Amino acid sequence: MIEIRTSSAAQTEEAAAALAPALRPGDLLLLHGGLGAGKTAFVRGLVRGLQGDENEVSSPTFALMNRYEARLPVFHFDLYRLSSEEEVLDLGFDEIFFGGEGVCAVEWCEVAGPLFDGVPAVHVTLRGDLEERTILLEGIHGTLDTGRLVRNGIRFRDAG
Ligand SMILES: Nc1ncnc2c1ncn2[C@@H]1O[C@H](COP(=O)(O)OP(=O)(O)OP(=O)(O)O)[C@@H](O)[C@H]1O
Ligand SMILES: [Mg+2]
Repeated sequence: MIEIRTSSAAQTEEAAAALAPALRPGDLLLLHGGLGAGKTAFVRGLVRGLQGDENEVSSPTFALMNRYEARLPVFHFDLYRLSSEEEVLDLGFDEIFFGGEGVCAVEWCEVAGPLFDGVPAVHVTLRGDLEERTILLEGIHGTLDTGRLVRNGIRFRDAG
């Protein structure tokens, strides 16, 4: 588990960009954290790190899913407006989550209930307040670009 501390949205974006080299087709990122925690900011940085156009990134609160072209296609979900695993399945999202084509990043994944239980995924947990946010990364299988963190003055540690 890697623990990162950020003091601005820009730093959260750069932290996400540093994760990009560790991502492969089929990776599933489950984003945990309440309203305004920085989940969408994290996805913006991820798209930047994957050489996509970060300006295309917006919250898919109403669209439910956005797709961005990048080194790997990024499927950005926001399940906030849904209410059950059944609804998620009815929309066919499971085929995208588990389809292996690109990278899926899912905001409000808790709405899908047990759908993600036991599924291999990168868990990104964001918490904190205006002064400082903590980002926990669990389940990454590649190497984080720590040089990028250092260049951006972002504090991090390997928390085992
Ligand atoms: N260290 C930080 N990291 C991320 N965002 C921060 C930080 N400090 C302040 N912010 C602000 O917090 C807000 C995060 O918004 P964002 O849309 O990314 O949250 P979210 O988790 O996607 O929320 P929602 O659940 O509504 O989709 C932005 O306004 C951003 O500027
Ligand atoms: Mg959001």
